[in-house]
Amino acid sequence: EKGGYDSFMEKEIHDQPQAVADTLLGRTDAEGRLVLDEMNIDESVLKSIDKIVVIACGTASYAGQVARYAIEHWCRIPTEVELAHEFRYRDPVVNEKTLVVAVSQSGETMDTIMAVRHAREQGAKVIAICNTNGSTIPRESDAALYTHAGPEIAVASTKAFLAQITACYLLGLYLAQLRGNKFADEVRAILDELHQIPAKLSQILEQTKGQVQDLALRYSEAGSVLFLGRHVGFPVALEGALKLKELAYIHAEGFAAGELKHGPIALIEEGQLVFIIVPSKRGRDSLHAKVISNIQEVRARGANTLVIAEEGDEAVREYASEVIYVPQSPTLLAPLLTTVPLQIFAMALATSKGLDVDQPRNLAKSVTVE
Ligand code: M6R
Repeated sequence: EKGGYDSFMEKEIHDQPQAVADTLLGRTDAEGRLVLDEMNIDESVLKSIDKIVVIACGTASYAGQVARYAIEHWCRIPTEVELAHEFRYRDPVVNEKTLVVAVSQSGETMDTIMAVRHAREQGAKVIAICNTNGSTIPRESDAALYTHAGPEIAVASTKAFLAQITACYLLGLYLAQLRGNKFADEVRAILDELHQIPAKLSQILEQTKGQVQDLALRYSEAGSVLFLGRHVGFPVALEGALKLKELAYIHAEGFAAGELKHGPIALIEEGQLVFIIVPSKRGRDSLHAKVISNIQEVRARGANTLVIAEEGDEAVREYASEVIYVPQSPTLLAPLLTTVPLQIFAMALATSKGLDVDQPRNLAKSVTVE
């Protein structure tokens, strides 16, 4: 049932091209327009919302953080992302004009269930983005948009994360399509790019896995690993750090690269391992240059820099101890690719320490208590 792999986690990492493809499947009509049949919330209501709040925990919340950049850009609707357990106890301002998006692989996370109930009590409409048919969160929501990643067994979430980002993007594109016709061509173009992601994921799994596994062996004694990212790379950094904590029990921390000089750079000393997720140069040139100078800054202080960049980006080589290249994609879609080397790194490092990557200590697959 592990499909020939050593662990469920490894299998699920390899399921990712399919998970993204299946989440996209059957959601466009012959004209290339997005149709989300399950969106049984009145169009007039969806047109009138003035705020989106994504609630989730752990990895699902990072999917929400990635999606926020895309949803605000496409829809021009203010979007917040909040940990469900913080949202619930904060007396948040939500009302009939708020769309709450609850993201959960299991659909049984108690913190998220409580937040959904609270949001609905305030009159908000709730859409669940969920991987488990008929689970509590979609049942208690106004509508459900399912990720079709297939069952995720390993405690550390991998394929569900990519499917969650994909589904959140579909929702964002759907709202954009609904709210303005001018946008139709752009929606089609982004959908086309999304459809190219599975093949690019397969390429990473075929061409890059070995390189990342070797790196994990080389750095298996690391006592602490830092992750830097900017824009959509920031939540990817957080996710990379979470995977390493969960699986390898190593202290790991993700930072927004722009924060470096506001504190975290004090942590850098000789031999500190730092992952840096570099944004595409074709996106916003200025951001690319800023992250390159971050690499330089940590390198100058003795860090070992593992850089994730898109193919063709030669500028990153100068200060990188090692570059892990991923295929080119539009900036907003890059997290669907740049996350994968970080998953493989955490899995390989934990495996090299003899740890059980499917069942890390102290954790449960779904957290059904508050
Ligand atoms: O089932 P959910 O998506 O609601 O679970 C949320 C988190 O508990 C989950 O993502 C957790 O952080 C994973 N162990 C991360 O790998």
